Amino acid sequence: MISIKNVLCNQSVKKHSFALKSFGFRFLFIFFTLTVTSLIVTPVHAIFHVYAPSDPILRTSYAIDDNEQKFGNIPKALRFDCHPEDGASQLSCTNRGCCWNPIDDDNDSENMYRLDAPFCYYPEDWPGYEFINSTIKGNDFSGFLIRKVKSFYNDDIPVIKMETTTLSDSILRVKINDPQSPRYEPPWPVKSNWETSRVKDSSPKYIFQTDSSRPGFAIKRAADNNTIFDAIGKGGFIFSERFLQISSLLPSHNIYGLGEHRTKLKLNTNWNSFTMFNKDQPPTEQANLYGSHPFYIVIEDSGDCHGVLFLNSNAMDIILQPAPAITFRTIGGILDFYFFMGPTPADVLRQYAEIVGKPFFPPYWSLGFHLCQLGYGSVSRTREVWNRTRNAGIPFDTQWNDIDYMENRNDFTYDKKNFKDLPQFVDEIHSMGMHYIPMIDAGVAVAEKAGTYLPYDEGLRDDVFVKDAETNQPFTGKVWNPIATVWPDFTHPNSTAYYFRMLKSMHDMFAFDGLWIDMNEPSNFLNGKVNGCTYNKLDYPQYVPHVVDRLLATKTLCMNAKHHLGSHYNLHNTYGTGQAIAANLAMRKIRSKRPFIISRSTWEGAGHYAGHWTGDIYSSWHDLRMSIPEVLSYSLYQVPMVGADICGFDGNASVSLCNRWVQLGAFYPFARNHNSDDTIVQDPVAMGDLVVESAKKALMIRYRFLPYLYTLFFKAHKFGDTVARPLFVEFTNDRNTYSIDKQFLWGRSLMIIPVLEENEVEVTAYIPPGPWYDFYSKAFTFSKGENFTLKAPLDTIPLMIRGGSILPGQTPNVTTTLSRKNKFELLVALDGNGFASGELYWDDGDSLDSFEKQQFRWLNFTVKDQKLTSRKVEKGGLSQDMILGRVSVMGISRKVHRVFLNDNSSIPFMYNKRRLYLNVRGLHVDLKRNFTLSWAFEE
Ligand SMILES: *[C@@H]1O[C@H](CO)[C@@H](O)[C@H](O)[C@H]1NC(C)=O
Ligand SMILES: *[C@@H]1O[C@H](CO)[C@@H](O)[C@H](O)[C@H]1NC(C)=O
Ligand SMILES: *[C@@H]1O[C@H](CO)[C@@H](O)[C@H](O)[C@H]1NC(C)=O
Ligand SMILES: *[C@@H]1O[C@H](CO)[C@@H](O)[C@H](O)[C@H]1NC(C)=O
Ligand SMILES: *[C@@H]1O[C@H](CO)[C@@H](O)[C@H](O)[C@H]1NC(C)=O
Ligand SMILES: *[C@@H]1O[C@H](CO)[C@@H](O)[C@H](O)[C@H]1NC(C)=O
Repeated sequence: MISIKNVLCNQSVKKHSFALKSFGFRFLFIFFTLTVTSLIVTPVHAIFHVYAPSDPILRTSYAIDDNEQKFGNIPKALRFDCHPEDGASQLSCTNRGCCWNPIDDDNDSENMYRLDAPFCYYPEDWPGYEFINSTIKGNDFSGFLIRKVKSFYNDDIPVIKMETTTLSDSILRVKINDPQSPRYEPPWPVKSNWETSRVKDSSPKYIFQTDSSRPGFAIKRAADNNTIFDAIGKGGFIFSERFLQISSLLPSHNIYGLGEHRTKLKLNTNWNSFTMFNKDQPPTEQANLYGSHPFYIVIEDSGDCHGVLFLNSNAMDIILQPAPAITFRTIGGILDFYFFMGPTPADVLRQYAEIVGKPFFPPYWSLGFHLCQLGYGSVSRTREVWNRTRNAGIPFDTQWNDIDYMENRNDFTYDKKNFKDLPQFVDEIHSMGMHYIPMIDAGVAVAEKAGTYLPYDEGLRDDVFVKDAETNQPFTGKVWNPIATVWPDFTHPNSTAYYFRMLKSMHDMFAFDGLWIDMNEPSNFLNGKVNGCTYNKLDYPQYVPHVVDRLLATKTLCMNAKHHLGSHYNLHNTYGTGQAIAANLAMRKIRSKRPFIISRSTWEGAGHYAGHWTGDIYSSWHDLRMSIPEVLSYSLYQVPMVGADICGFDGNASVSLCNRWVQLGAFYPFARNHNSDDTIVQDPVAMGDLVVESAKKALMIRYRFLPYLYTLFFKAHKFGDTVARPLFVEFTNDRNTYSIDKQFLWGRSLMIIPVLEENEVEVTAYIPPGPWYDFYSKAFTFSKGENFTLKAPLDTIPLMIRGGSILPGQTPNVTTTLSRKNKFELLVALDGNGFASGELYWDDGDSLDSFEKQQFRWLNFTVKDQKLTSRKVEKGGLSQDMILGRVSVMGISRKVHRVFLNDNSSIPFMYNKRRLYLNVRGLHVDLKRNFTLSWAFEE
């Protein structure tokens, strides 16, 4: 062991880097010089790389603080925190072998962030581990490292193994584990599929590097040698029993992801901590929320993108600092990284979907409007709201009930008094071509009389409840049920069959169509048990991430509670996803139709089984605005079926807020109005005429474009594409789009520009370069990449159609069932060259595996040289008729003289010269066959 006292805290950055400051530059490039003695280099298809002294490893810009020179040469932005616990002092810091340099807070203008540059930080090349050997087999590296110095944390693992797996030329896994005794790894996402489908001979888009004398590794982009991850000798690399840490430089500040958190879409790298530990926590800034998605995507300076998944389900802090750099600090499991090389954002997301699983394909009806409130309290009250919403002519597909429909708030029951007619009501809903979804909580009631509540009795018999570590009996807490609650253990082999039986018996009572699973973080009204948790290593680990209240068991189970696959300490973040899987499998079997599950708690891969709503948000303008980055971030995590409660859940919505919210909510992928029981009634009719008019207008547009939305969901399911899409995903080379989260796209073609401020009737929006059309007026705009001010009367949400697009639609009606009977439409928006293209995927909307069974039709449409043509993308055998009734074309600047169907017959049309708009109605084109529709100008 070498001594780590007297470390060098003030060395190695070249002085002249700072000289520019005197010229008044606030930002500058820093070129780090690394001197390396020995190297392990992984030749990946003979791509050899050695650090040369002049290699620009970090090439980025950041503000140089006035204190920089006063306190030595590790720039503030590059200080990696060596004392993340409270109460750092010079003594406690230097005892860890770290550097101590307090910062004068008064000079710090950015104290609004919870974190700041640490006073106590690692010296350069803190020598945690070094390589003892390494081998290269094919494309893959494997090496052992031994600990060189004790970390401050208990039970350092003396020997660790780092290995890479080339999963494809764009996906690299880097795994660091204890070779002696394998450690916990999350059971989900299931890995079997992709381990076998590995690409063997490929030319990787990445270069993997290590340095024999220092821990960590680096990844470069082979195409341009850009370093996208550099953890070699950065910060404090630690691998102990319950503290694992690795830090890396980032190649840019354009970073997205790391949810679930309430943040802007583009994350702030100015000392920000993202704590991941699933919690029943109304969304607020800086708090750990319901889900954990340790995945990020970065846009490099070149415009290329990559993504990184840190597959670890333990409680963790991820820290961003302005170098820019990232630190992963987790309290269990292993270090398991997946690198996705892109290079486009869509490529990154497709690659990531290969690992975590692609989103489930939703039933068509679930794309309609949903309505709920906690505390209707009875069937008659539920029916009244259902009825008046329909009577108002608001497009509406699915009625929901929160826990008040249950008997004693117990799962798998219904209140035989106030909800006596629930079975009949559900039948009535079905007879209108509509659907019904009830809530199910994670916890199961304990205190009902033996023999009267089978979910508990059978769960006990089948041994499926999470166990108390001290008594080995079911772990008991308290949620909504009377007296006490236990929790099914979804890692138990008996749990799937148990959940199926429970849901089946409930479905036999009333034929619900989907499931809303809640309180599955899991949430508990107690901190652990009635008397808390015992003092044990899991509930009181040496380091506790920055969870709300700094106690892991806060409003959940004790960490030492036992699941079949391990401790709650390890499995906590996966719990909700376990429930989603059990619910999905059960619903598939019960209905033999596509499951539709919405879950509050999520983990990597949750989107393969369920969608998500953003939980207990507040009826405020701030929450309205923040709902957009919340929804867009989930679309990055492969959970495209996501929405926020329209008009907010807690607190009273005002008419003006609810009015703008129904307009935005009409474009959430999951569009549901829901609120709490202690607030005003906020269904559209209750909010009055303005909200009803806005709801009808915006939802009719949604219903018109449902074939387009459905096609986007199909592409999400098949490829891992986004549905609600951040602008940067489409316009990656346009830096103006990087931080936009007040507008978003559906797919590539429809831009949604909501009003997010009270009393505004216009909205300023960024329109990326190219031709665009106002959806309402058809007005053409050619943007050079500029801000435009758009009119937004109170009942209207601005929408722009991107030139070059063809959007499939259908004449809307008030339910998806009725809309599906109508004719299709194509809305064509020409680009500057008279070109446009688009797609339509269609099937019966509810059957399982329609695509796999070839019961679909998937068409591509193109306009070129004044001619619209269709062709099949893939052959499917859907028997149902698909009739095209209307084609409209925006952006025809010459007067149309004739329109021809299939090159022969001239057909009626309307051409509006002022709007450059061609409208061909009354068509009856069978989309089973290819067709052409062309137009000719006057000679
Ligand atoms: C590397 O070192 C480890 C630990 O001592 C040992 O188990 C392993 O066999 C070594 N591998 C090679 C290739 O030498
Ligand atoms: C990347 O770096 C290596 C080694 O310095 C060099 O041989 C190679 O040409 C570089 N590639 C590119 C694309 O710059
Ligand atoms: C539902 O609405 C219809 C049409 O307005 C009305 O006749 C009926 O009484 C309503 N039913 C309930 C239960 O409110
Ligand atoms: C599953 O449940 C059955 C009773 O239905 C029980 O006999 C069996 O032990 C349980 N399996 C496990 C693995 O506990
Ligand atoms: C558009 O307006 C926003 C908000 O005022 C501003 O931040 C942005 O820089 C503007 N973009 C352009 C290209 O002018
Ligand atoms: C919806 O369809 C019904 C039944 O075909 C029809 O009576 C009604 O007018 C349609 N409503 C709208 C808004 O198109």
